[in-house]
Amino acid sequence: MHATPPQTIGSLEVTALPHPQGCRAYVVVDPVSQEALVLDAHLDQSLEIAARVSAEGWRVRWVVDSHTHADHPSGSVPLAAQLDAMRVAHARSKHVGVTHLPDDGEPLALGDLAVTVRHAPGHTPDHLVLVSEGVAFSGDSLFIGSVARADFLGGDAGHLYDSIHEVLLPMPDETVLYPGHDYQGRVHSTIGAERASNPWLQLGERDEFVAAITANKPPEPANMAALLRLNVEGTPIPASVSAAETVWLVEQGAAGSVVDVRELEEIEAAHIPGSRHIVMNEIMQRADEVRATPAPRLILCAHGIRAEMVARALGSMGIGGLQIIRGGLVEYMAAGGEVAGGNLGAVNGGGSCAASPPPMA
Ligand SMILES: [Fe+2]
Repeated sequence: MHATPPQTIGSLEVTALPHPQGCRAYVVVDPVSQEALVLDAHLDQSLEIAARVSAEGWRVRWVVDSHTHADHPSGSVPLAAQLDAMRVAHARSKHVGVTHLPDDGEPLALGDLAVTVRHAPGHTPDHLVLVSEGVAFSGDSLFIGSVARADFLGGDAGHLYDSIHEVLLPMPDETVLYPGHDYQGRVHSTIGAERASNPWLQLGERDEFVAAITANKPPEPANMAALLRLNVEGTPIPASVSAAETVWLVEQGAAGSVVDVRELEEIEAAHIPGSRHIVMNEIMQRADEVRATPAPRLILCAHGIRAEMVARALGSMGIGGLQIIRGGLVEYMAAGGEVAGGNLGAVNGGGSCAASPPPMA
């Protein structure tokens, strides 16, 4: 998780903050007034962003979620509180605690400049994109070489098509595009480059786009229910989870969120199939692997003692959304949880926010 050097676009300065899970947060600054906007901060990034803001002397006026995130915990609540900023989501969002609900076309002022909110439904009904001269923050609508999925939380593939074609594509070719995700480490593109080569923009009419995007539903993000409780209702992720609840969560597909911190011999004796293994004494060096694990991350050891130490260490690095599995693998097995021996199998981290590739790609 390393901020890219600031880029000057028109009169604004943009710092992109890639997250190992593929999410992208942005800090947009008016260099004259030093007023700033934070977009789509992941919970793991809130400490880092607050530290950066304080070091740079920026005054953050707006903390924005482009939409209801279903794949990662938002950092907007702690950031808005710590930075004394307005918490912003589109008027159609139902996020508890949002203090500013702009509608289509409303400007968010940064000094004498402004970033304009455009309603761009499709991925979700409350989705917004932010535009300013020479730049578009597309959230989960148009990605680099891809588009967002539109099959959950009230998403609508036709609306996604309309939003991309009516809000983003009329912008000039040289407009810099900053997406809400990139799963291949890219930071930005341009509207012109996407117009020329994004396979979803080479499809014909709206019907063809809708048929292609609905043909191949990607898997749902892991742990959606817990993430929505946090991102919509504002209910924090509890610091621990019972072994019995973990059994249920794993049955629902959350094995890829289990981070097992035991020694290799213990893993080989018995482990939860599909879990990740990061041995405790390597946890700090391998923190990015924890960040890349979909939250809530379920920290597992034999009895829960090592998991507690690991959660404390990771928390000190700003990593959020950690849950200690109470009683560890011993209680997990006692609660009827399935385990396997031998080597760990492949980890399935669940779905992303991107659509599956179109048939022609
Ligand atoms: Fe999303």
